[in-house]
Amino acid sequence: MRPDDHGDSALNQPSDNVRLTVVGAGVMGVSIAALAVSRGLHVTVTDNEPAKADAAAAKVAQELRLAKLVRAIPDDAVAGSLRVRSSVPEDVACDAVIEAVVETKDVKTKVLAEICEAVGPGVPIITNTSSIPVDELAAEVRYPESLLGVHFMNPAYLIATVEVIHGARTSEQVKAGAGAVLEALGRKGVLVGDGPGFVTSRVSHRMINDAIKVVEEGRASVEDVDLLMQDCLGHRTGPLRTADLIGLDNLADSLTVLHERTGDESFRPADLLLAKVAAGEHGRKSGRGFYSY
Ligand SMILES: NC(=O)c1ccc[n+]([C@@H]2O[C@H](COP(=O)([O-])OP(=O)(O)OC[C@H]3O[C@@H](n4cnc5c(N)ncnc54)[C@H](O)[C@@H]3O)[C@@H](O)[C@H]2O)c1
Repeated sequence: MRPDDHGDSALNQPSDNVRLTVVGAGVMGVSIAALAVSRGLHVTVTDNEPAKADAAAAKVAQELRLAKLVRAIPDDAVAGSLRVRSSVPEDVACDAVIEAVVETKDVKTKVLAEICEAVGPGVPIITNTSSIPVDELAAEVRYPESLLGVHFMNPAYLIATVEVIHGARTSEQVKAGAGAVLEALGRKGVLVGDGPGFVTSRVSHRMINDAIKVVEEGRASVEDVDLLMQDCLGHRTGPLRTADLIGLDNLADSLTVLHERTGDESFRPADLLLAKVAAGEHGRKSGRGFYSY
């Protein structure tokens, strides 16, 4: 792999010795990298799309500003360091890798193979997949014992609880290593069983898809669906604002994973969702989705 250098961006002196590589500088890669930097870790983030790699340092800095605004980062926190690359360097030395690329099995399988080659055996490889069973990915990689799932929530700096999914072959050493990384990140892991969508995506994505179908059928406006779900049912942001925050392309991919693996028609992505994705309206990250930003 070609270790193209997009420049180092030392935000401060690292307070810790944990080295983390994050693959994918999209919504979640940036969010997880910001969380890690805020906790004093040495972070290398990679993305094979030059525009994404070029923008990554500024996006991480922006996430850190937002995290400070909402007081998710303590005032006396000592930031770690950040560097950006276009691929995982062959000689990377790190305590764990977090894979946060698009939610399609073929891309993840290819990226996980590259990660295995770069880090060798024994290094925890954490997939941030929302929906693809860990064992399904493990079946395709060279070191299945290195793979486990940690489903970070969005934004990663704000939501301190994460889903943890062990594969059938994940080694005890890798489980312990990933646990140490979660501790360094200040996240509380909840161990759940493997399977499509784990707990959170399986439960929430069907509801979000239904909310979209209600709008599609003309029964209520986007604003009213969110208002009712917030005020009557205590949903934090409303399902359609949540869809925009997730990214409509990622939501459609996750629903497709759930639909294909469960056969449950309620997971088939709503036509309105697919139309928005096709139109390039990917939610908050593209400036337009169910709302405008
Ligand atoms: N968006 C959310 O709210 C959310 C929450 C939890 C988990 N997730 C999961 O996290 C993962 C990432 O989601 P996202 O929302 O950040 O997606 P995204 O589309 O915003 O970002 C994905 C990134 O992966 C990069 N990428 C694609 N192929 C690559 C490759 N071969 N090498 C390196 N980078 C590559 C893309 O350029 C892009 O920047 C997915 O598995 C998703 O299901 C998303």
